Amino acid sequence: MKIDCTIDGKTLTLSLNSDKPLSLILRENMGDDGAVNHCNGEMCGLCTVLVDGKAMLSCMVPAFEIRGKTVTTFDSFRRTRNMKDIEKAYESVGRYPCTECYASRSLIFESLIDEGITDPGEILKELSIVRCPCMDPEDEIMIVRRGIEIRRKRNVQRPQLA
Ligand code: FES
Repeated sequence: MKIDCTIDGKTLTLSLNSDKPLSLILRENMGDDGAVNHCNGEMCGLCTVLVDGKAMLSCMVPAFEIRGKTVTTFDSFRRTRNMKDIEKAYESVGRYPCTECYASRSLIFESLIDEGITDPGEILKELSIVRCPCMDPEDEIMIVRRGIEIRRKRNVQRPQLA
């Protein structure tokens, strides 16, 4: 089937099997070497991407689900102003994800900050898709709350860039 979508800012029409996992599309069709399957599915969380701003496991998203949607990988997200907000939140709290889960956790933090989610239960539920045990849950909650404050402050200062 043909699927129209946007991946890392590129508007694409892809011809592929409708069930092909997004993680494989990123690797085989987009040449994203970082998008490898790390587990047999839903076990590690290291394949996380943003789909229309929401953090999702790319190994569990079939091709047909990205039709008309915008996919953002960490490779493009890392260069954005939004990532700078998250880096500031890490710095402010004094805690950082380890190198293995840095990309996935940062994308989930972005999804939570973008939605303005402050409820500890919701924050930890979203972050639980990454199984790496490198972070303390209390620190994760603080990072999201701090990130929301930093984002709001930036948007108030520069509304035209929000
Ligand atoms: S590759 Fe492990 S959860 Fe997707």
